[in-house]
Amino acid sequence: MKTTSLSCSSLFIFLVILSCSSWPAQSHGHHDFLRCLSLHLQNNTEISSIVYTPNNPSYLSILRSSIRNQRFTSASNPRPHVIVTPMHESQIPAIVLCAKENGMQIRTRSGGHDYEGLSYRSKVPYVVLDLVNLSEITIDVEQKTAWVQAGAIIGKLYYKISQTSRTLAFPAGACPTVGVGGLFSGGGYGPMLRKFGLVADNIVDARLIDVEGRILDRKSMGEDLFWAIRGGGGASFGIITAWKLNLVTVPATLTIFSISRTLEQNATELVHRWQYIAPNLPDDLLILISIGPVNSSTGEKTIQASFGSLFLGGVDTLLQVLEQRFPELGVKREDCVEVSWIQSALFFGGYSIKESPQVLTSRNPQIRSTLPIIRFYFKAKLDYVQEPISVSGFEGNLYKIQQLAYWDESGAEASGTSISWVRKLYSYMTPYVSKSPRAAYINYRDLDLGVNKEGNTSYAQASIWGLKYFKNNFKKLVRVKTTIDPSNFFRNEQSIPLRYSK
Ligand SMILES: Cc1cc2nc3c(=O)[nH]c(=O)nc-3n(C[C@H](O)[C@H](O)[C@H](O)COP(=O)(O)OP(=O)(O)OC[C@H]3O[C@@H](n4cnc5c(N)ncnc54)[C@H](O)[C@@H]3O)c2cc1C
Ligand SMILES: *[C@@H]1O[C@H](CO)[C@@H](O)[C@H](O)[C@H]1NC(C)=O
Ligand SMILES: *[C@@H]1O[C@H](CO)[C@@H](O)[C@H](O)[C@H]1NC(C)=O
Ligand SMILES: *[C@@H]1O[C@H](CO)[C@@H](O)[C@H](O)[C@H]1NC(C)=O
Ligand SMILES: *[C@@H]1O[C@H](CO)[C@@H](O)[C@H](O)[C@H]1NC(C)=O
Ligand SMILES: *[C@@H]1O[C@H](CO)[C@@H](O)[C@H](O)[C@H]1NC(C)=O
Repeated sequence: MKTTSLSCSSLFIFLVILSCSSWPAQSHGHHDFLRCLSLHLQNNTEISSIVYTPNNPSYLSILRSSIRNQRFTSASNPRPHVIVTPMHESQIPAIVLCAKENGMQIRTRSGGHDYEGLSYRSKVPYVVLDLVNLSEITIDVEQKTAWVQAGAIIGKLYYKISQTSRTLAFPAGACPTVGVGGLFSGGGYGPMLRKFGLVADNIVDARLIDVEGRILDRKSMGEDLFWAIRGGGGASFGIITAWKLNLVTVPATLTIFSISRTLEQNATELVHRWQYIAPNLPDDLLILISIGPVNSSTGEKTIQASFGSLFLGGVDTLLQVLEQRFPELGVKREDCVEVSWIQSALFFGGYSIKESPQVLTSRNPQIRSTLPIIRFYFKAKLDYVQEPISVSGFEGNLYKIQQLAYWDESGAEASGTSISWVRKLYSYMTPYVSKSPRAAYINYRDLDLGVNKEGNTSYAQASIWGLKYFKNNFKKLVRVKTTIDPSNFFRNEQSIPLRYSK
């Protein structure tokens, strides 16, 4: 069985490359910020071990340590005046107060996977609050709950859960290096979505530090704010330091398969059929598709559709279901492997299932993905397809994808070519995808959808992107934002605006 063809990156549907936008950081004294911190933390030893300014030799390596998109590593990108890496939640209120007092914004970074780099890039003077050292995970096996600090990556969460029981699990994303701070606050989905819903549905408590430096939990923040930080993105409301999760119970034996079909092997018809079959499969069964260019055995370029699957049960049952529901796919017993849940996490993370699960805890693993978007320059776009696309529609689409190449150079020429390719694809897709508004997912952030004005943006301006991500929930998010952060301290290019701002 080939496990290489499907990996965490296959959850991306359309990949786009944009030219690098650069905005030089303005010079601004950060000394007052540091002085303020040393007053409030009252411990100089501690400060020097959690604060990095540009003249610290580790500054650049820490800044880059969780930048996931090479578009944003070059020197033309803005850099923070200070990086702070708190060791404890209690150190964060002082960071908020001192940033506020000194006119600096805070960019909170957990896993660093933001598509537009908003967790470490800003046009205005700013501090990166990097939660890399807030990553404790405590599991209560009896209660089937876990507290996970916001700086942990989901791979570490999976690994820790797997150490306590073979049948406890958590339904988050595929890629192990994604941070729980960003993924969970944007809603979050993964391979067990059909059975257990979104990550947000499985969060039962949270800890958040607000603009006044108060440490709130679900009870003290209230249900509206607790709702907002589970889908509205965390960055508009404060700093989330930890989540409490309800763990789910899965069978001891799950089954995975991954099979690939090229255009010559009827990929187009199979993908077309899949649209009708996949939504109606039992909840226990997920079948995903990733589509990309490959070289055929005769060395010619072609397109391949890879079908990757997770079934919450054994292979015998799976084969019965497939025989009934999707015989055209032609899955055979030898295409399938029975695994534990943590092995399925290795599979979706792009690893061999024979690998030690501990590799999932690595923040900087060797990337083995066949789709090299993590290593290279990427920009992704997401569409929701609401009606199945016709075979002829797919033919046009798949042949367009054939023109796709991945660029591993930053040259303007390369990105120019890809931009025009992507624009064609995006407009080609228009008739097939959601409309009014064309929907988007906050965790696949796309600044092309619109950005806030600097300072206090207007509600109307923010609605341009806000309604695409949130539809009718946007209004309620604005109300919550106005209550919890009335001075709009926590803001970025796509943060929720204040209610009455003009
Ligand atoms: C390779 C890859 C795979 C992915 N796979 C999936 C997937 O399977 N499912 C899915 O749903 N999404 C997936 N995503 C999208 C992912 O959920 C989002 O990019 C998410 O925002 C990343 O979270 P992070 O903590 O790693 O990112 P960061 O860049 O650290 O943060 C993202 C945003 O959240 C804010 N933020 C981060 N931490 C906090 C905090 N503690 N408090 C307040 N605000 C905070 C940041 O300021 C920023 O605005 C993937 C992305 C990539 C690049
Ligand atoms: C300062 O912090 C360090 C590390 O946390 C601790 O060991 C030390 O006791 C603290 N000193 C004072 C004076 O609080
Ligand atoms: C995180 O904490 C460890 C000590 O526990 C320290 O060695 C490391 O440098 C810290 N990382 C950062 C980025 O501050
Ligand atoms: C492709 O589909 C056609 C008819 O739908 C079928 O006859 C043919 O055998 C299929 N080819 C492959 C390689 O599966
Ligand atoms: C196809 O083959 C060419 C030439 O050997 C190689 O450069 C390219 O990377 C291959 N493409 C894929 C998708 O494997
Ligand atoms: C934004 O509006 C709020 C509320 O009126 C105000 O307190 C704050 O200073 C404004 N911020 C900016 C950057 O204009």
